[in-house]
Amino acid sequence: MYDFDELERRVHACTACTLSETRTNAVPGEGSRTADLMLIGEGPGFYEDRDGRPFVGPAGKFLEELLASISLTREDVYITNMVKCRPPNNRDPLPSEIEACRPFLDRQLEIIEPKVLVTLGRHSFAKFFPGETISRARGKERPWNNIMLYPVYHPAAALHNPKLRSTIEDDFSRLPSLVESATARQAGPVEVPDETKQLSLFD
Ligand code: URA
Repeated sequence: MYDFDELERRVHACTACTLSETRTNAVPGEGSRTADLMLIGEGPGFYEDRDGRPFVGPAGKFLEELLASISLTREDVYITNMVKCRPPNNRDPLPSEIEACRPFLDRQLEIIEPKVLVTLGRHSFAKFFPGETISRARGKERPWNNIMLYPVYHPAAALHNPKLRSTIEDDFSRLPSLVESATARQAGPVEVPDETKQLSLFD
């Protein structure tokens, strides 16, 4: 099993699908490698492909605002995408491209072990729960393996749509308490001695 530096090297050298032929830069992801909160978008766009960094265009600015609204910065979380190379003309990533890129995302999840995983938009949500619609699923946390998964709308979709915008803002506002409760749950139940039960033994 390879470590995070090796993972980034492999992403930059990857030719597993044809997106590698048209990319300027592969975009492995960025942020804290020990983050409690990880966010997964769909794929790099124009600015991300140019800079080799995730969410640096207009959707990224909005994502930074959403994080700031819960007192977090990009450095506090880990941000990545389903596919690490830009689909031409920002088209949706193909299922075969998502599949080819999957080992990288799986390894990122294994190494980072986030407590809460936010899927941004329908593609990243569909990786975990295919066949469900994002409009029904958003804002409702659900367990997936040992992680709390939390689907929200994609910031690019919400940016210019006032209704979706206030929905994604509300959904982000719940994140601090979700991270807190997911952390408490993973730490296991706190054993509080039940004195009433102990006393009743001697009744
Ligand atoms: N949209 C995404 O899904 N990912 C990015 O990195 C940028 C825009």
